[in-house]
Amino acid sequence: MNERITTKEGDIMTFNFDHIVSRFGTNSAKWDGMAQSLGSDMIALSVADMDVPAPPAVVDKVCEMARHGIYGYTDPFPTYYEAVRQWMDQAYQWKVERDWIVYCPRIIQAVSVLIQKCTEAGDRVLIHSPVYQPVAKAVTLNDRVLTESPMQLVNGRYEIDFADMEQRMREGVKMVLLISPHNPVGRVWTREELERIGRLCIEYDALIVSDDIHADFIHQGHEHTVIAKLSEEIAERSVICTSPGKTFNLASLEIANIIIPNRDLRERFKQGLLQAGIHNPTFFSVPALEAAYTSCEEWLTALQGYIKDNITFTKQYIAEHMPELKIIEPEGTYLLWIDCSAVSRRESDLVDWIQEKARVSVSYGTSFGSGGEGFIRVNIAAPRGIIQEGLARMASAYPLNR
Ligand SMILES: Cc1ncc(COP(=O)(O)O)c(C=O)c1O
Repeated sequence: MNERITTKEGDIMTFNFDHIVSRFGTNSAKWDGMAQSLGSDMIALSVADMDVPAPPAVVDKVCEMARHGIYGYTDPFPTYYEAVRQWMDQAYQWKVERDWIVYCPRIIQAVSVLIQKCTEAGDRVLIHSPVYQPVAKAVTLNDRVLTESPMQLVNGRYEIDFADMEQRMREGVKMVLLISPHNPVGRVWTREELERIGRLCIEYDALIVSDDIHADFIHQGHEHTVIAKLSEEIAERSVICTSPGKTFNLASLEIANIIIPNRDLRERFKQGLLQAGIHNPTFFSVPALEAAYTSCEEWLTALQGYIKDNITFTKQYIAEHMPELKIIEPEGTYLLWIDCSAVSRRESDLVDWIQEKARVSVSYGTSFGSGGEGFIRVNIAAPRGIIQEGLARMASAYPLNR
């Protein structure tokens, strides 16, 4: 079914996200990686990229650049900074100065460099768990101490345990890694929660590194707030990591915008990038970002509608065919965090059902660290036919089938 969008000028635009494009043979980490290790009869609902092509304006721009044929060194010029500033303003009503924006290929690289340059070996870095592990691993890989503050599941919704967080901050945390919105639990932090986090970081003198990579997927009734917007005092100790990677499906073009209002912090980060030998962006990344941030608003609105319908479809399907599973209501992201503990809390049982019998690849809860036992994460940013087939397979092998 086509998603129809009325533009500001009153024109109707249609986008078809139902079309299935095979990703086998494209070196896809999600599909080819799965085929290599588990077989090509599997269906992938795992890695957090989308099974829909990037917006037509981006694809056209990349093709145009590809045809140029000379793939020499690239730099970000004023049009890049303007595109980022425009997006921050339009999407999050955050006015960003040009100087605050620092290009870095990947968010995980930026987090790692920030840990290296803004903390010392042995310092504590706090994160709310269960959580997307590459961000947490950046802490331990750099010989810092990972301090997990477990979230609490209250009436089906994850909440930060502020008493626990404060206790840990009191013990001497130097940096808080905030995942905003949160992967995998799908929370969109409220202004009040962000203010409390900001206050704690001021009181205990910790830096805030906010990973906002999922911020363009916010569901009805919720609003993304960039933590640095809350006050100048908070902005001065914040680094906001943004990227078009998830939003426009550009992950492997490698472009992230790290926004740092504080000059000293920014210079330290830039120095860290130089030390790591990270400088020019790839040839395709800047034009792709510019096209995405300046001419794909309608496409994104249509995609957000499609994802919302995928969530509704998945909820209905699970309620009908696997009613013991509990979907944590997602406030943001295109990922569903599903409590399968009615089937088993043991990952091996879930693997036996979903991977071995149903032949579906999902992300298992334990891969998100402590608190993930008995859960799976399902990526629903795909044509509905793929979701439908994956769920049907899971339902047909469902261990609680009567
Ligand atoms: C919260 C979060 N941060 C960062 C990343 C990866 O970002 P990058 O590819 O820019 O390193 C992901 C990808 O799944 C993510 O979910």
